[in-house]
Amino acid sequence: MRFPEGFVLGSATASYQIEGAVAEDGRTPSVWDVFSHTPGRTYGGDTGDVADDHYHRLDEDLDLMASLGLHAYRFSVAWPRVVPEGRGAVNRAGLDFYGRLVDGLLERGITPVATLYHWDLPQVLEDRGGWRVRETAEAFAEYAGAVAEALGDRVDTWTTLNEPWCAAFLGYAAGVHAPGATDPLASLRAAHHLNLAHGLGAQAVRAVLPDAKVSVTLNLHVFRPEGETGPEAARRLDAVGNRVFLGPMLEGAYPADLLEDTSAITDWSFVQDGDLEAIRQPIDVLGVNYYSTSHVRLRDAPAEPEPSPWTGADVVEVLPPEGPLTDMGWNIDPAGLTDLLVSLHETYPDLPLMVTENGAAFPDVVEDGAVHDRDRIDYLRRHLAAAQDAIARGADLRGYFVWSLMDNFEWALGYSKRFGIVHVDYNTLERLPKDSARWFAELIRTGDLPDA
Ligand code: FCB
Repeated sequence: MRFPEGFVLGSATASYQIEGAVAEDGRTPSVWDVFSHTPGRTYGGDTGDVADDHYHRLDEDLDLMASLGLHAYRFSVAWPRVVPEGRGAVNRAGLDFYGRLVDGLLERGITPVATLYHWDLPQVLEDRGGWRVRETAEAFAEYAGAVAEALGDRVDTWTTLNEPWCAAFLGYAAGVHAPGATDPLASLRAAHHLNLAHGLGAQAVRAVLPDAKVSVTLNLHVFRPEGETGPEAARRLDAVGNRVFLGPMLEGAYPADLLEDTSAITDWSFVQDGDLEAIRQPIDVLGVNYYSTSHVRLRDAPAEPEPSPWTGADVVEVLPPEGPLTDMGWNIDPAGLTDLLVSLHETYPDLPLMVTENGAAFPDVVEDGAVHDRDRIDYLRRHLAAAQDAIARGADLRGYFVWSLMDNFEWALGYSKRFGIVHVDYNTLERLPKDSARWFAELIRTGDLPDA
């Protein structure tokens, strides 16, 4: 059970989930500041105001990463720190934080993997239409170019977007993520403008750094079809969940079945001449975030109209997951990861893959200064073994990042869900490596999958 030479093992985080310091050094509010401060939007009214206070504890966190022996660290850059007004003036103080982060990683022999957009859109841009409008994609490209110029070749891999599906459909259709809209048309416009942001952003990074390694991270859904109507349900959700991004980004076209399935909502006339060419940029690696699978079939009767992320697929039913479940209520299906990686490899044989997130929330308890998170170790071990199966079946998988380095602000669920391999005490902000952190460090040290 060894990984190939050079296989990258790292951990991932995102700016709004860990940084805190939301009003410091010129940062302006993001959509998540506004959303989390709106009563009723997040668990217990939790916000990212302090989060893990990573902004002030940078050195301690860098030492923590070094102590685990991480090969690489995947972080995201907060757009409202770097371009506080969304467009225009670049804020040196905001950029300096990421400069210190990148230098600190390199000093410790850890490879920096930067994501430019992990959902913290400057609120000033949301006020002008957010991802509903193409101006936001243009603004993203300017911001991407500014970060590329500042951090330059110190960053190994540039990821344009994290999970645009969540930004578009949880944010604009289901309304459970910022900005909290429930408008199917807005979600499809958002999906397109996020695609455009990826394409323009990739070009902006390469204009500054011609040899940059560019990627995008998608949360590709794995559907398990149930019964006779399962395959049609899976086709529909695959269109609006996966191919809505893979199509334009990798093949330069929206899938015909997606356009047909959504024709009652829009004729897609917001796609302008030249957009598809702009979106289809060569990528050096595709990031894949994977947690669970969904069992699906068609409904007997059309659903009551209710906010759902599955825009244009309201005839579809996602069945309640079968246990054992994680604390998120998600099923545990490691074979889904193998299936996903193998099928991506079959469809795009020349495309290197990277698992940019995988992990699990469990209700951890601190006992005598330790967290014995056996269920998380078991989850990680089985998914890493599933990744090895995919490699054995030919997938060109280059690495794996555990979500997450430390417990953090889990979006609408606030601090109620703990994904970290390091425990964070939200009263003292003390970091405590869980047993899973030691287990992961052992994997990195030996290159062999240790027993659970
Ligand atoms: C993903 C997000 C990440 C984290 C995990 C649990 O959808 O990219 O920020 O919240 O889920």
